[in-house]
Formats: sequence, structure tokens, C-alpha cells
Amino acid sequence: MQSVFVPGLFENKTAIVTGGGSGIGAGIAKRLAKQGASVALVGRTLEKLENVAKEIEADGGKALAASADVRQYDALANAVKMAVDRFGGIDFAVASAAGNFLAPAATLSANGFRAVIDIDLCGTFNLARACFEYLSKTKGAIVSITATQAKIATPLQCHAGAAKAGIEKLTRDLALEWGRFGIRVNAVAPGPIEGTEGMSRLAPGGAEDMLKKRVPMRRYGNIHEICEAVTYLLSPAASFITGASLLVDGGTSLLGPGPFLDLLEQGG
Ligand code: NAP
Ligand code: COA
Repeated sequence: MQSVFVPGLFENKTAIVTGGGSGIGAGIAKRLAKQGASVALVGRTLEKLENVAKEIEADGGKALAASADVRQYDALANAVKMAVDRFGGIDFAVASAAGNFLAPAATLSANGFRAVIDIDLCGTFNLARACFEYLSKTKGAIVSITATQAKIATPLQCHAGAAKAGIEKLTRDLALEWGRFGIRVNAVAPGPIEGTEGMSRLAPGGAEDMLKKRVPMRRYGNIHEICEAVTYLLSPAASFITGASLLVDGGTSLLGPGPFLDLLEQGG
């Protein structure tokens, strides 16, 4: 597979990755570690984090598993502190923790809406805020994982869409405020990514073929393709890029209401 992989690119750097225990977040953590970074993995389930940490260490990398709910600022700040104590600082913060499910707005409970806003949007702010002091010392960078739902009206996901749009706005605002500290703040907006929890929740039984037909490139993306974009945005190659959201979606977002419209038409 083609790659912008550069061995040693992130040598002597430390990254903290929320949602690092599975899926896209785990893929990003492993990729950063493979390129030399020490990686702190954050999520609620310690066992998942420890498994990824063991994989990284078995591959010769350095990793730390730190369990925290991104909605709890003090717990997350403690995880950041653990990473700093172990590795000496923070150069990169990657916000990949999220929650999503299909639900019509007409029946979604207020608590269901709030849960997703809390995890995605507040969790991303909490990570950025808890890392600010350390990122300003290292002139580091933040990348948040958003989604095409941030940009296009998408049925059955008003909670996730509002949260991801909020993260993209937060990305621009933090880029504006923190550029003077040398901190770059960007986002990567994936389209549907194969083999992930996200797609198993959003493409229920049999919907996969239908959804793929609504992606201009006629396929799902893969975790490797998201890691490429994150690597680029964290690397010195992106040294003048801040406040950006990079779509990695095979053209999905070009389709207006998006591939999930068919689910709504079918009574989703
Ligand atoms: P995933 O494997 O479920 O990853 C989400 C991670 O977030 C899990 O490891 C989960 O671990 C963690 N998490 C959830 N709530 C948390 C909380 N309150 N505090 C701390 N950690 C929490 O799903 P994924 O599909 O790889 O998604 C990863 C990211 O990509 C998300 O931001 C998602 O919105 C985005 N994305 C995915 C797709 C896709 O096609 N999959 C498309 C667009 C965007 P615990 O449950 O153990 O906490
Ligand atoms: N449809 C409608 N509402 C739902 C739902 C669904 N499929 N799943 C959860 N909710 C509602 C719950 O009913 C609850 O609302 P209520 O109190 O009014 O009944 C609210 O959401 C919170 O649910 P709870 O299970 O207490 O939240 P949690 O904080 O433990 O978990 C979620 C958060 C709901 C986002 C959970 O799905 C999760 O942990 N997801 C992480 C993994 C993930 O989503 N990965 C994909 C990333 S794209």
C-alpha cells in the first residue's frame, strides 16, 4: 500500500490519543508509535487500552494505557499528567473518542443527544484544554477526528452531526487563539471506514452495499487512509496548516444529504 510513512518521523515526540483502545484511534496510536512517538492511550475500558499498548510495545514502541472518561475533565487531566510524568511532555493530542448511533430526532431523548455532545464536543475541548500548557511548551499540534456529518445534513444522526460540526468550529477557534503559542489545530473528517465500530453501528444488516453505492469512489475507506492524513497534519510537512478540516471520504460529502438518506427513505 502507498504511504507517506517516514521511519523516525516522530522520534522523541509524545502523543496522547483518546479513543486509542479501538478502531481508528487505535490505528492512529499504532501508526504514531511505529514512527517513533511515545503514545498515551485514553478511553474508558482499561483492558482495550492495555491490549493496544501491549501490541505497540511488542512492536518495539512505547505506550501507556490511562483509563478516563473524556467527559470528566479531572480524570482526563490526570491521564494527561500520567503521560507527561512517564514521557516528559506532550507534542500531539489526537481526539478520536466518540459515540454514535442511528436515531430519528423525533424520538431521540434529550439525554441521548447530550451524551454524544458531551463525549465528542466537550471531550475534545477537555483534551485540548488539558494539553494546552504542555503543547505550548513543545509548540505541538492537535488533530480531532470529525466526520462528513459535520458538513452535510445527515438523517438519523443529528446528535453526532451537531457534535462534529461543533468540533470543526472549535478547531478554527482554537487555531485562531493558539497560533501565537505555536500550536496548530486541525481536524480530519473521515467518510465511512471499513471494519470499524462506527460503520457496524451506522450500516445495520444489509445496508453496506447500498451505502457503498452512494460513495463516489464506490468503496469504504480504511483506517490506514485516516492514519495517512493524521500523520501528514501532525508532521512538519503541514507546518503552516492550522484551522483546517481535511476530508478523507472518497467524495462522500459531495452528495448533499449523504449516503444515509436511503436509510431514512426506508423508514430508518
Ligand atoms: P470506536 O472503535 O468505537 O472508537 C471510539 C473510541 O472512543 C472507543 O475506543 C471508546 O472506548 C472511546 N470512547 C467512547 N466514549 C468515550 C468516553 N466517554 N471517554 C473516553 N473514551 C471514550 O469507533 P471508530 O469507528 O473507530 O471511531 C473513531 C472516531 O472516528 C470517532 O471520532 C468517530 O466519530 C470517527 N469516525 C468514524 C467513522 C467510521 O466510519 N468508523 C467515520 C467518520 C468518523 P471505550 O468505550 O472503552 O471508552
Ligand atoms: N438509540 C437511541 N438512544 C440511545 C441509543 C440508541 N441506539 N443508545 C443510547 N441511547 C440513549 C440512551 O437511551 C440514554 O438516554 P436516556 O437516558 O434518555 O434513555 C442516552 O443515550 C445515554 O445512554 P447511555 O448508555 O447511558 O450512555 P453512555 O454514556 O454509557 O454511552 C453511547 C454513550 C450511548 C454513545 C454509547 O453508544 C457508547 O458508549 N458509544 C461508544 C462507542 C461508539 O459509539 N463508537 C462509534 C463511534 S462513531
